[in-house]
Amino acid sequence: MNCLCFSVVAAAALWYKGAWLSFQISGFLVTHLIVAVASFKGGVGKTTTAVHLAAYLQKSAPTLLIDGDPNRSATGWANRGALPFKVIDERQTARYVREYEHAVIDTQARPAPDDLRALVDGCDLLVIPTTPDALSLEALMLTVESLESISAARYRILLTIIPPRPSRDGKEARAMLKRKKLPVFKTEIHRLVAFQKAALAGVPVYDVADPRASSAWEDYAKAGKEIIS
Ligand SMILES: Nc1ncnc2c1ncn2[C@@H]1O[C@H](COP(=O)(O)OP(=O)(O)O)[C@@H](O)[C@H]1O
Ligand SMILES: [Mg+2]
Repeated sequence: MNCLCFSVVAAAALWYKGAWLSFQISGFLVTHLIVAVASFKGGVGKTTTAVHLAAYLQKSAPTLLIDGDPNRSATGWANRGALPFKVIDERQTARYVREYEHAVIDTQARPAPDDLRALVDGCDLLVIPTTPDALSLEALMLTVESLESISAARYRILLTIIPPRPSRDGKEARAMLKRKKLPVFKTEIHRLVAFQKAALAGVPVYDVADPRASSAWEDYAKAGKEIIS
């Protein structure tokens, strides 16, 4: 993972166009892992995923969450309570990135083709959350087509907001993705109200008073483990 600081800059340049160019040249090589979270559809758990992957990475090294969504959902999450890592908006990347080992980038839905390319070039792994319903899977296939058209290989699909049994939606979605030979996390994120409580309270899900909070955290901790292993 060489030139990783450069990579973060490439991702930041996504929104700032040429504005970071001088920083690209003078960047320090301190960031070890850059994970971006993107999808063509809103409401599939991007921000929830970005927050919890950042919380997981923070347990091993200082982690920065770069909020690249103009809706600033991750920033709002942090402002409502307390997250154990720093959240900045993408315009502050140059100022902070040198101080952190890992970076997670949250993005807005429906990235333009150029943005997707910059994101793929600028990160070590692009995580694509998808819920197991038809609309979301349709949007996922559009994302995958875009990624294939730019020969992107460093991406992995994360099944999120999986409804409990007797629903078979999660299993069926996984089987479909397997048939298409797409890269999918083994871990899936279950639909648990603890995640909504966490967003409301502005904390990671492990800090929520809910009987399923630790099981909810375990889902993202396992996904995090898959990323670093
Ligand atoms: N695993 C989950 N279980 C239950 N609700 C979830 C889960 N993940 C996300 N949510 C809720 O779904 C909504 C959309 O999630 P969010 O992370 O904001 O998606 P996106 O960033 O893709 O728009 C939010 O209300 C959030 O609290
Ligand atoms: Mg979001």
